[in-house]
Amino acid sequence: MRRSERLIWLPILLLLFGRGLESASNYLIGLGSYDITGPAADVNMMGYANTDQIASGVHFRLRARAFIVAEPRGNRVLFVNLDACMGSQLVTIKVLERLKARYGDLYTENNVAISGIHTHAGPGGYLQYVVYIVTSLGFVRQSFDALVEGIEQSIIQAHDNLRPGSIYVNKGELLDAGVNRSPSAYLNNPAAERSKYKYDVDKDMTLLKFVDDEWGPVGSFNWFATHGTSMSRTNSLISGDNKGAAARFMEDWFDQNSSGSMSSPLSKKTARRVSNIIPVVEDNHHQLLELASSFESSSGKSITRFMSLTGRVRSALRQADRPKFVSAFCQTNCGDVSPNVLGAFCTDTGLPCDFNHSTCGGKNELCYGRGPGYPDEFESTRIIGERQFRKAVELFNAASEQLKGKIDYRHAYVDFSKLNVSIPKQGGGADVIKTCPAAMGFAFAAGTTDGPGAFDFKQGDDSGNAFWRLVRNLLKNPNKEQVDCQRPKPILLDTGEMDKPYDWAPSILPIQILRIGQLVILSVPGEFTTMAGRRLRDAVKTFLTSGASKEFGSNVHVVIAGLTNTYSQYVTTNEEYQIQRYEGASTLYGPHTLSGYIQEFKKLAAALISGKSVESGPQPPDLLSKQISLLTPVVMDATPIGVKFGDVSLDVPKNSTYKRGGNVTVVFWSACPRNDLMTEGTFALVEILKGQDSWTPAYDDDDFCLRFKWSRPFKLSTHSHATIEWIIPQTAASGVYRIRHFGAAKSLLGSIKHFTGSSSAFVVA
Ligand SMILES: *[C@@H]1O[C@H](CO)[C@@H](O)[C@H](O)[C@H]1NC(C)=O
Ligand SMILES: *[C@@H]1O[C@H](CO)[C@@H](O)[C@H](O)[C@H]1NC(C)=O
Ligand SMILES: *[C@@H]1O[C@H](CO)[C@@H](O)[C@H](O)[C@H]1NC(C)=O
Ligand SMILES: *[C@@H]1O[C@H](CO)[C@@H](O)[C@H](O)[C@H]1NC(C)=O
Ligand SMILES: *[C@@H]1O[C@H](CO)[C@@H](O)[C@H](O)[C@H]1NC(C)=O
Repeated sequence: MRRSERLIWLPILLLLFGRGLESASNYLIGLGSYDITGPAADVNMMGYANTDQIASGVHFRLRARAFIVAEPRGNRVLFVNLDACMGSQLVTIKVLERLKARYGDLYTENNVAISGIHTHAGPGGYLQYVVYIVTSLGFVRQSFDALVEGIEQSIIQAHDNLRPGSIYVNKGELLDAGVNRSPSAYLNNPAAERSKYKYDVDKDMTLLKFVDDEWGPVGSFNWFATHGTSMSRTNSLISGDNKGAAARFMEDWFDQNSSGSMSSPLSKKTARRVSNIIPVVEDNHHQLLELASSFESSSGKSITRFMSLTGRVRSALRQADRPKFVSAFCQTNCGDVSPNVLGAFCTDTGLPCDFNHSTCGGKNELCYGRGPGYPDEFESTRIIGERQFRKAVELFNAASEQLKGKIDYRHAYVDFSKLNVSIPKQGGGADVIKTCPAAMGFAFAAGTTDGPGAFDFKQGDDSGNAFWRLVRNLLKNPNKEQVDCQRPKPILLDTGEMDKPYDWAPSILPIQILRIGQLVILSVPGEFTTMAGRRLRDAVKTFLTSGASKEFGSNVHVVIAGLTNTYSQYVTTNEEYQIQRYEGASTLYGPHTLSGYIQEFKKLAAALISGKSVESGPQPPDLLSKQISLLTPVVMDATPIGVKFGDVSLDVPKNSTYKRGGNVTVVFWSACPRNDLMTEGTFALVEILKGQDSWTPAYDDDDFCLRFKWSRPFKLSTHSHATIEWIIPQTAASGVYRIRHFGAAKSLLGSIKHFTGSSSAFVVA
């Protein structure tokens, strides 16, 4: 039956089988997912603003995950969750341009939300405002393109997958995946308000379960507040941090569970991948031959080369096969929430840091939060990821409340640099106060317990990288009006009043409400603290459920989608702002920033209830043509005489046998990973021998057990090495294995040539 025919028949069938009405689909749903890993070398990582944190390999891959929900003949909303530090105005603008070219007016700024999970382990340089690209030596085209392209691909999949289905919502508490990292600021909120809550961070996870009429469950998205800072400011491997890990685990879990086996998620995923590949190898022989011929021939059989391309054909498979299960772990009001749940300690004394200032003997540099896997950050990432994953599975399996009702949305751009905010007075009436042009306080430079500051932004300072030296003389001293407006924030950087060589900080911010039945998503372009998020959610919920509206019953689920569509740092309550910890210092538009948000969101909510439109507001600038990039491209790659790219430089010992839990490390002669990002592919592969001579992929660089590390002997060297580490999972099958590396080398004239290499075989027993 064609899709359109199904649509006509469905209501009739429902009438015939009345009981079906309860569980019947009422929406069209479609999900999609695509690789956005980006450049795995040379690029500064986004989040800690640490100049020294330069990518040099892959822990696991980053993805864009999208869902679309549509009324069969009405509105639709599109939500994209990125394994990236945050949404970016420029990325949003360019994705919307592509969507317009492809789909006309189906997807616009009004009904599209693009949100970041806040991993601090992804490549930076994709934001357009100066202050967010200082440590990345300016704009990084490759990071930006990987995001825009990957987001578009995930949306195309979701769009093509749109079919009748239902959505269920469920909510539950997860207690041990986040702690407040600025409790002294939280304590400045009124006691009466604090007494309404059991904890000083939000513990709720809200999950959506997507069920296709034909295929059954096809995915889930959930929102839970905790920072993406399980990986530290010195990590250099690309990673989705705890939320990316949770998503990886849940998708693997589903693949395993849905085929009814209790074997390991990893081996099951791979088995599925492989069984998917083989028919395609047969079906699309030509296409694969073409792909394969782009790789230099190695000693392996041609089938092996096909296998190594698993990722590249994965997306093609999805369309032919059942849609791939997509599970996203989205960010919400994580502003003051750390995943480093053991608390913050001084590296010198081992004692807890000073409570009020998070310092050690007066110094912030020594105070570090500890994750549950301390001192192993990979382990902390796994544990916090696994806690979110387990809670999500529990909510997923028990979800029974179906989303019903209208799909709708409202969006507005608001100039937060000069917003009139009306603050009710005690005895009636209201004071109108103004927000301020953006500015960052001194505590910003100190950083947080998740990553003590090193963002050396002092005026006249001679240190810093080339980009900083270029722009630091353009710093501006704030005038009295700005100083008064931002009080008590001592201004370090008056970013909102600096526009040379182009804007340092955003002024115009997007705010948005997406409604799917009784679920309401508030898209905010920043990191709300716990209490700031509670106030916003409560204000909108009260407004929607108060007498004015018959639209919403008393049952409304309100979630905040943090770091969405653009980025403007933090939002604290006015009381927290007074304390001027990192989050307060990073609340850009002054003490009344939150009140401004609440006021403007109420306008969107009012329009949603009344069915009226809202004014779209001033457009944010597109600064793409003004971007400055100082990151040097790859010049060329080379190997010493007598050595080829892909040759093994450190092999496994001959005839070696490893136990599960063992560490197999192989080093290859390699080339810069920026030459080919291996999007939807892999730099590293573990293969198992099946039969006499058929090497079959078992694990790739998206798997937790496999790490791809890349290095040069010195900064401008043309030589480089790929170190591939495989920690053999307890669930690995016994057998003969080998490790392979895939790369691409750049010649002096600029041509790119792919290569591969393989370790000797070894046994896992
Ligand atoms: C997982 O397996 C259990 C037990 O077989 C089943 O009840 C459940 O529906 C499965 N979940 C998914 C997502 O397939
Ligand atoms: C933190 O600061 C508050 C307010 O100044 C003070 O009352 C409290 O004793 C301080 N706490 C600690 C542990 O230093
Ligand atoms: C804000 O208020 C001031 C004075 O109260 C007024 O002059 C100005 O026009 C207002 N701005 C906006 C955008 O409404
Ligand atoms: C490896 O094992 C094979 C088979 O057991 C044996 O023939 C060969 O000599 C061994 N090689 C080394 C270097 O030990
Ligand atoms: C694996 O072994 C290599 C080489 O000995 C070592 O450098 C690396 O840290 C080990 N990896 C893990 C995850 O233990």
